[in-house]
Amino acid sequence: MSDLPDKEFTNPRAEHGFMGRTCSISAVGAYVPERIVTNRDLEKIVDTTDEWITSRTGIKERRIAADDEATSDLGAKAALIAMERAGVTPEEIDFIIVATITPDMPFPSTACLIQQKIGAHRAAAVDIEAACSGFIYGLEIGQQFIMSRTYDCVLVIGAEKLSSIIDWKDRNTCVLFGDGAGAAILQHRPQAHGLLTACMGADGRKANILAMPGGGSLHPATEASVHDRLHYLRMDGKEVFKNAVTAMCRAAKEALKRCDITVDNIKCIIPHQANKRIIDAVGDRLKARPDQLFMNLDKYGNTSAASVAVALDEAVEQGKIERGDLILLVVFGAGLTWGAAVIEW
Ligand code: UT7
Repeated sequence: MSDLPDKEFTNPRAEHGFMGRTCSISAVGAYVPERIVTNRDLEKIVDTTDEWITSRTGIKERRIAADDEATSDLGAKAALIAMERAGVTPEEIDFIIVATITPDMPFPSTACLIQQKIGAHRAAAVDIEAACSGFIYGLEIGQQFIMSRTYDCVLVIGAEKLSSIIDWKDRNTCVLFGDGAGAAILQHRPQAHGLLTACMGADGRKANILAMPGGGSLHPATEASVHDRLHYLRMDGKEVFKNAVTAMCRAAKEALKRCDITVDNIKCIIPHQANKRIIDAVGDRLKARPDQLFMNLDKYGNTSAASVAVALDEAVEQGKIERGDLILLVVFGAGLTWGAAVIEW
């Protein structure tokens, strides 16, 4: 258990007119594709080295989905694991929120496709797009529906098949990303604190530093757009790096402040898994101990909206988080978007 502050810990949500109704994460689940692509494998297709990728990012390998495996397949598998652990049947799910930048197709939503795959036919379903920050955005949206008593059970999924939008000829980006999915079941549980606060932010002025320009209404798919490689992810890595450290620190500090706690009260920090150097810089600025920072990017690379969901699942499975612990999720992504959430597990 984390050390709680001296004074009795209060749920900031309860003080703001929600009549004490709280939202717990009953269970999480994750799924990553079987195929492992190592840095050495990438040395064979672009001008890179295992040494460069490891020292600049911390990534050693990533999972890549099969050609016939779509984002909805990954998301459905993660969801079924979370549902089984939570003891929730498909009929009990009221609402499905899927955070992704790699939907199976522009429409219908990946949430509707997952609804069909898991048999949750009673549930409303919608996709949200906040890039790598999507899972925290999804948790916050889901919990608002629980706290307002609109729904009793919300399934939040972060799922990505980033390999489908990576330019495998661009060494600046292709070494960084991977595929995967994570899911959480949100429910009201009496006496459980659950999600204590979530701070979210965005800055559209910097939309151009990380984007996939093609395939939407601005640049629909044409021979010219394909020729110009507009349907691949593009990133100004250095700019993203700087903005990520600043925004993640700011969001994390604000979330801790809202809960009237310090980083010492946190058992485990689960940051977006983009780059070990970003995570170390955020940890330093928050004055966190290295053992508080959870990392699994060496195995999966950056899986965008799935990243913290998969990491949270692994931290729980490895026994790094136990019921009652305070944890901090902190994310950053295209948009720009960012967020931090404090959860009493
Ligand atoms: O999920 C959203 C959040 N995304 C992120 O947070 C990513 C943020 N950015 C980063 O993680 C880092 O900026 C990168 C890992 C993308 C790049 O690291 P960097 O230390 O900023 O390297 P750089 O872009 O300054 O590149 C340094 C050199 C360049 O060569 P020159 O111009 O100095 O000759 C690149 O061409 O490294 C070269 N380079 C590579 N070399 C070998 C870039 N990619 C590679 C590569 N292998 N894969």
